[in-house]
Amino acid sequence: MTPRTVSVVNMKGGVGKSTTVASLAEVLSTEGLRVLVIDLDPQSNVSMMLAGQDRWIELRQSEKTIDAYFNQYVYGGEPRFFRDFIATKVSDISGDHTLDLLISTPEFRYIERHALEKWVSQGFDIRQLNTRFSRLTNSAIENVSESYDVVLFDCPPGISMFAEAAIELSEFIVIPTIPDYVSRLGIFAFRKRALRSMEQRRFTDERIWTLITKYEQANTLHQSESEMLKQQFNVFDTRIPQTEQIARAAEWSEQKRTFEQKYGAAAPVIRRFAAEFRERAGLI
Ligand SMILES: Nc1ncnc2c1ncn2[C@@H]1O[C@H](COP(=O)(O)OP(=O)(O)OP(=O)(O)O)[C@@H](O)[C@H]1O
Ligand SMILES: [Mg+2]
Repeated sequence: MTPRTVSVVNMKGGVGKSTTVASLAEVLSTEGLRVLVIDLDPQSNVSMMLAGQDRWIELRQSEKTIDAYFNQYVYGGEPRFFRDFIATKVSDISGDHTLDLLISTPEFRYIERHALEKWVSQGFDIRQLNTRFSRLTNSAIENVSESYDVVLFDCPPGISMFAEAAIELSEFIVIPTIPDYVSRLGIFAFRKRALRSMEQRRFTDERIWTLITKYEQANTLHQSESEMLKQQFNVFDTRIPQTEQIARAAEWSEQKRTFEQKYGAAAPVIRRFAAEFRERAGLI
């Protein structure tokens, strides 16, 4: 069986992409799915959220990082399997779940640049470069396809070749967004890009869903913008509220805790989102 590949992506920064990836991965793994998170962002936010700083430093020292994996294709060297770079059993949620992670580091930003420099100097054009990044990412996933039910990509804000590659291979796309005017404008252009990728594979827009995040119930702009989004896009019924507990959940805890302890009053709404996600993404 091949895993469901899902990109959580929005060109806009700070909309809750990494928070969504971490919490969704945690719910799905506590529900018994085998989950792999791949951090495509040099900011390494989801790596820190799921592994904690100490383990992140250890992983970085032992070169179990996404940059070390792709490095071998840019600089050469002894080829190593993708699975050898993955950190197993991350997250501070108690219990024996399969929640694994490929961490990113700040150096990851240079891999893309070096790869581009090298391949452009070899005469590759932009289409060929895209194909190359996609192939590399695809073959990485193939190496672990028996081990996971779902693979979640946390994409960086802005544009990157690796995020493009993730979109190209994803069967489902989640676009977290804050319901305000500027954010809604940003989704138009981006969704077009995602739709093109889906249509090339004969998928419909039923695979691209917007998630309203940082929702403030008493904010009438949030209310009206959420309605506008619903008229224009596929929008999850569940809205993730702006809460202190969700923000606090980003901080690693040395003490293991249950999902409910970690997310507090926000736990039920995150579980509801995960249930809706499973239904929409066909992960039942
Ligand atoms: N529902 C929420 N309630 C409160 N705070 C939140 C919520 N979602 C995210 N945050 C906080 O907002 C900030 C940005 O969230 P996050 O890092 O998930 O966004 P992002 O889209 O991944 O950002 P970037 O574009 O930089 O990767 C973080 O400090 C996070 O803790
Ligand atoms: Mg992020």
